[in-house]
Amino acid sequence: PIGKVRGTEGQWWHQRREELLALGREHGAAFVYDRSTLQSRAEALQALPGIDAVFYALKANWHPDILRLFHDQGLGFECVSQREVEHVLNILPDIDRRRILFTPNFAPRSEYAWALQQGIVLTLDNLYPLKAWPNLFTGREIFIRIDTGHGRGHHDKVRTAGVHSKFGVPMFELDELESLVESSGVTVIGLHAHAGSGVFNVDNWASIGTTLATLARRLKSVRIVDLGGGLGVPERLGQPGIVLADFAAMIEALRAAYPGLALWIEPGRYLVAEAGVLLAQVTQLKGKGEVHYIGVATGMNSLIRPALYGAHHEILNLSRLEEAPTEIVNVVGPICESGDVLGAERLLPPSEEGDVLLIATAGAYGRAMSSCYNLREPAREFMI
Ligand code: LLP
Repeated sequence: PIGKVRGTEGQWWHQRREELLALGREHGAAFVYDRSTLQSRAEALQALPGIDAVFYALKANWHPDILRLFHDQGLGFECVSQREVEHVLNILPDIDRRRILFTPNFAPRSEYAWALQQGIVLTLDNLYPLKAWPNLFTGREIFIRIDTGHGRGHHDKVRTAGVHSKFGVPMFELDELESLVESSGVTVIGLHAHAGSGVFNVDNWASIGTTLATLARRLKSVRIVDLGGGLGVPERLGQPGIVLADFAAMIEALRAAYPGLALWIEPGRYLVAEAGVLLAQVTQLKGKGEVHYIGVATGMNSLIRPALYGAHHEILNLSRLEEAPTEIVNVVGPICESGDVLGAERLLPPSEEGDVLLIATAGAYGRAMSSCYNLREPAREFMI
């Protein structure tokens, strides 16, 4: 039967189909996360020989069970707001503070002061804090986020380097950085860069590593290089994913070239995207001339990625995996915007009210970016 949806055979949700159907029917819409997939993703990254520490970027998904699981597996956490740090501390009160990175962007002074007080590793991503609040950092050890100049990723909106991006200290400000570091009495122990999200070519991290390691030789106090996150996952059937063996080889090469530097990474999507699906029950069917619509119980209020980035999420009718896909349809949610399309021109079997559709790779930036738009609650979350 699975042959009708070729290319999905290896996905965890085939084994959990009955459980997913039951959740979909009971709740109408649900994010479901698979613990064993989460676990194996974390294990795979933890097993990379040349990486000294993996920090999970919890902006992708801050479900408490996911944080507990990753903590048990030895991961740290990368946070971008005080609330994210507090969330980690609430769920894992005994966590070693050194396992939390705080990488804010244009945050108010109070968040920096708070993080330093908590003993959390802080990354500055521009020179303003050092210029405007030098006393805050005197005697402290911090990281600096560098804009290496090359933004990468699946969409313009997620490329976080280059002159058009608001992130990082540009290379042409390095002299100024050095003198501010000296005058404020801060010690830079780490350099960080994140070029973007949804990247498949390992040259991205090779070039970040080379740039930062070269810079580390100049700023003598640097002991750690954080290569950022951004590891992509395939979104379309048959699309090749990142090859971890290539990633490992690239890391080994960096280690050999720059011995003595610790190498860190901070992925979000890679750890959680494929471990999550969004289930949504069919509410109504409609034909408008040649165009067919399948309406489902939730839309851009749960998953905004298609509307925001034109992102692709595979969609299957979980109630009818055995049936031949013969109709081209638009899968739409109940939100009052024409952009509320979860999938345009998809090939699906003829569907009926009550069927459960599965929207794949929804574990990252799904619920995390959801909203109550139209006062429609986003789908609830379940861990199985
Ligand atoms: N580190 C930093 C400093 C970041 O800004 C990000 C993501 C990450 C790590 C984790 O990136 P990842 O490994 O998940 O690609 N909402 C977009 C993605 C935005 C990512 C923002 N920063 C999406 O749904 O594709």
